[in-house]
Amino acid sequence: MKTLAAALVLFAGSALALPDPRFDGKPDAAAPVVKAKASAAAISEADSRVWVELEAPDKAARQAAVNAGISVEEVKPGTAAGFATPKALARAKAAGLKVRTTVSLRQRFGALDFPEKDAVYHNYKELESDMRSLAARAPDLVSIFSIGKSTLGKDLWAARLTKGAKGSQPSKKPGIVFMGTHHAREHLSTEVPLLLAKHLVDNRAEPEIARLLETRDIYFIPMVNPDGAEYDIEGGKYHMHRKNMSKNADGSTGVDLNRNYAWGWGGGGASPDPGDDTYRGPSAFSEPETKAVKAFVEARPNLKTLISYHTFSELILYPWGGSDAQIPDAKALAAFRAMAGEMAKMTGYTAEQSSDLYVATGDTCDWAYAEKGIFAFTFELTPKSMWDGGFYPGAAAVQRVFQANIRPALYLIDLSDDPLRAAKGASVFASAPASKSQGEATK
Ligand code: ARG
Ligand code: ZN
Repeated sequence: MKTLAAALVLFAGSALALPDPRFDGKPDAAAPVVKAKASAAAISEADSRVWVELEAPDKAARQAAVNAGISVEEVKPGTAAGFATPKALARAKAAGLKVRTTVSLRQRFGALDFPEKDAVYHNYKELESDMRSLAARAPDLVSIFSIGKSTLGKDLWAARLTKGAKGSQPSKKPGIVFMGTHHAREHLSTEVPLLLAKHLVDNRAEPEIARLLETRDIYFIPMVNPDGAEYDIEGGKYHMHRKNMSKNADGSTGVDLNRNYAWGWGGGGASPDPGDDTYRGPSAFSEPETKAVKAFVEARPNLKTLISYHTFSELILYPWGGSDAQIPDAKALAAFRAMAGEMAKMTGYTAEQSSDLYVATGDTCDWAYAEKGIFAFTFELTPKSMWDGGFYPGAAAVQRVFQANIRPALYLIDLSDDPLRAAKGASVFASAPASKSQGEATK
């Protein structure tokens, strides 16, 4: 096993050695990049969070860490690691958890300057203009609309891909929604749904894709948390920000949008402390962003499946996340397991019930399944570890991770007419022999 010091050197080294990000060659991928002024240090003076690695031999220990208010991001045999405020760290220690290492964010990440190298990633403006040009390129197939406004008043953009219906016109076709960037620093989770939408348009003549565009109602909301995502790259530096940009009563900033949905809200694994990275908010659906997703989903009873992309850890998670119990419907559980297992084979990721990682209440997928019967998955994309790039895996990750995620997306779109048929292995996209790019993506 790597020592921490070696891992840190490796982390910084790989960051500096990134190749030219512009490999995509497509006109809208090369859209002008708004270069941020390189100025202030990435991590502000006031940010006293640490990256902490704890001894965590079992789930009970991981859960204790989560319940102390630590955002557990990385689980390895024997340890769990994530972000902690000094208060959360003290709570964890008081709960009897043993600390292996702590790394101050300011010391370790304050000097990183990826954004210029990572120009291939889309900021909010670039995302908006790419989505618009996609619609302009295929007006018979693509429409763009806003599902609502963020805390700071930005439109939350959705792209709809289907034949024969536009914008908010209702459809009886089975629907699917792909969402990204509930969490600000998880920028790769914006790229994947955006590139998937482009892929469907670019390959619309392929018979299987043409069939899906004809018979399914497909939505992409690549940036659920644009305020947080914009803040995270402010000044041309990364800020390791997770939450949205709500002002909390105690003066701290942000609510964890993936703890703010209603199902099980206020229960375990979601912090009541506004300063914590996993703060659940003052009430369920208190945030404009989650309210907008709720309204979007409720207006579309044809939605049958959902993927909420996050980074990182290479996992495919299915409900429940807020409880150790299994979902009660045995047929649905079999279908969830079959789908997660199949998509795990395609990507090399690990499939498991969300709560096997740790119990955390108020996430998107629990709500979508409990309230709406939607087969909803959380994808934790590449990399596997904090020291392989963590939230900032660099420009080279974008194409690789997108490529690995095409087939699972097509598979789930296909199954949206009747997700229960997953248990019978009934999809043309199922059980693909691992291709070269898929194999690479698992490294
Ligand atoms: N890492 C994500 C988060 O913390 C995924 C959580 C999945 N849900 C769960 N209840 N474990 O928001
Ligand atoms: Zn996340």
